[in-house]
Amino acid sequence: MCGIVAYLGDKEAYPILINGLRRLEYRGYDSAGVALLQGKDLIIYKCQGKVSDLESHINGRSTTGSVGIGHTRWATHGPPNDVNAHPHQGTSGDLALIHNGIIENYAPIKEELKHRGHTFRSDTDTEVLVHLIDDIQRSEGVDLAEAVRLALASVVGAYAIVVVDRKDPDVMVAARKSSPLVIGIGEGEFFCASDATPIVEHTKNVVYVEDGEIAVIDRRKGLKIRNVKNQEKTPFITELEMHLEALEKGGYDHFMLKEIHEQPRSIRDCLRGRLNPSKGEVMLGGIKDYEQKFVNAKRILIVGCGTSWHAGMVGEYLFEEFARIPVEVEYASEFRYRNPIVNEDDIVIAISQSGETADTLAAIELAKGRGATIIGICNVVGSSIARVTHAGSYTHAGPEIGVASTKAFTAQVTVLTLMALMIGQKKGMLSGSNFYRLLNELDAIPDKVHKVLQKEAQIKYIADIYKDAANALYLGRGYTFPVALEGALKLKEISYIHAEGYPAAEMKHGPIALIDDAMPVFVIATKGASYEKVVSNIQEVKARKGKIIAIVTEGDTVVKGLADHVIEIPETPDALVPLLSVVPMQLISYHIAVMRGCNVDQPRNLAKSVTVE
Ligand code: AGP
Repeated sequence: MCGIVAYLGDKEAYPILINGLRRLEYRGYDSAGVALLQGKDLIIYKCQGKVSDLESHINGRSTTGSVGIGHTRWATHGPPNDVNAHPHQGTSGDLALIHNGIIENYAPIKEELKHRGHTFRSDTDTEVLVHLIDDIQRSEGVDLAEAVRLALASVVGAYAIVVVDRKDPDVMVAARKSSPLVIGIGEGEFFCASDATPIVEHTKNVVYVEDGEIAVIDRRKGLKIRNVKNQEKTPFITELEMHLEALEKGGYDHFMLKEIHEQPRSIRDCLRGRLNPSKGEVMLGGIKDYEQKFVNAKRILIVGCGTSWHAGMVGEYLFEEFARIPVEVEYASEFRYRNPIVNEDDIVIAISQSGETADTLAAIELAKGRGATIIGICNVVGSSIARVTHAGSYTHAGPEIGVASTKAFTAQVTVLTLMALMIGQKKGMLSGSNFYRLLNELDAIPDKVHKVLQKEAQIKYIADIYKDAANALYLGRGYTFPVALEGALKLKEISYIHAEGYPAAEMKHGPIALIDDAMPVFVIATKGASYEKVVSNIQEVKARKGKIIAIVTEGDTVVKGLADHVIEIPETPDALVPLLSVVPMQLISYHIAVMRGCNVDQPRNLAKSVTVE
């Protein structure tokens, strides 16, 4: 997704913008640019490629100025090239604008502006918006803030924008609708960004701009915010919980590896204050007011995308086993367009690491409009989804920079486990001894994840054997079927090897035709309800010369005699196996991708947060 950074203050803007754009690289992009105000002069530098390419492009040229905007573009309208990169200007050349989102009605607006004499350089929807603002400012004789407000009133779509005007270099105007925008407030300086990562090293005081709001930053008057009715609103300043070191790699080669290894801590942080095994208590303050609605729910709908959808799939097994509530898990993108049946006594759980995924946001709005209670499970505090849901629980996994989601997944599953145990216990579905046992087992998970991480050298050895595979199959049953899906997603999204996750029993209904001695088959075969069945599936693969990499319970000898490789993980109840068995999958994908020379933290074509549909 596009990244936005802007600065107005008394320091040189350029280094702040470039460093900020680097903080946003994890969002995924294909070109970058900056605009600097040098008194009444507006300088724009932009090009296809990475931030480092932009710096080379600028090298030796003037970069002074204490007001500026910066952008990393993830192409939606028009191919990645220098002309389509942001910032964009209007006809007068007075304005520069950066944008994250999509202007859906840009085509008719562009035609109208062409009739009014405007000519366009790029293929982008963004350039249409800046021409519209430019046209209104000149035809109506209004200031930048009013021109932005009038222009946005005629725009349909999603946007987070920042605009500057060389006629008034002490003002910056920002606005948002459906795309995230945060404003940092320092000592006599202001920052705008798509999220807090470029801001946290400068100030912890931030304002989250709400949908439909316009922020006017004036060097002389400070920050003013207007809502959709053009009424002035007092900015609500919150203090960031994020810390700068969380944004660094901490000695690891990649953010993804750091985040895989952070999981003992991130799961512990997710449990902290919520789980008390000795007292037999689960406390989820964020949904306290809705516990009874949860207990009485006739159905739970879970919506999400990608890895978050896989976490939701684990949630289905958890809620149906522990709370005996029927669960339906939906791709948010499918849910939002199929006119689903949603009732007022439905609980909808929306899962999203970023809290900004457009499809998940839209699914929430639809379900909310039909009277359901929406519970969010997000990782980013103050994110859009966290703010539009009725209640929710943060995963507290800390910033997840790697595009491939790892610690967010285990934290999401941890929250779902806590919810299912709490509701099940309140519904009297869980006997005291079983409930206590499960709480203690959950409490032991961080240490067990740490033990699995000790297997990294063995996992790296296995990754080296299969790094050149063209395809891979992932098999699981019950609770580990979603883990098979997640393992396959990890491999394909960072190593570009085609991989499929399947319920182990389904293999006979087609995929078994794919098995040959070139096909690595990753199987989760831990001791539990489906163990014997999975062993049979392994024998079916072996009979067709498939290569078997099995994740087994410590001490297993049966599968050890069948598989080409076994990775042992500590014993734990079926319901908690996803939290342990996903870790070898994450590490295998990571090491294969590194061995294949892939860009692990920023895989091609991918964005960390898909804020457009
Ligand atoms: C997972 O590794 C991917 N990065 C992607 O599938 C991601 O899970 C999906 O886009 C949902 O993102 P969210 O959790 O921020 O909503």
